[in-house]
Amino acid sequence: MYVCLCKAITDTRIRDAVIDGADSLADVRRDLGVASNCGCCAKCARQLIRQTRQEIASLDEACQVA
Ligand code: FES
Repeated sequence: MYVCLCKAITDTRIRDAVIDGADSLADVRRDLGVASNCGCCAKCARQLIRQTRQEIASLDEACQVA
């Protein structure tokens, strides 16, 4: 789904950016242009970044346990 309509950025692209090392909205803004125009997508993008980081941390933890 589109998160940032101004820049036509999907949730998948934001998730991929986080997997590739983006750590914050500032990073995703720099890399993809998210929230660099009207800013309406900032809250949703920030939430998606946080969620993706938590998923990555959970996977890392699960892999260390196994
Ligand atoms: S919807 Fe993302 S900057 Fe406008």
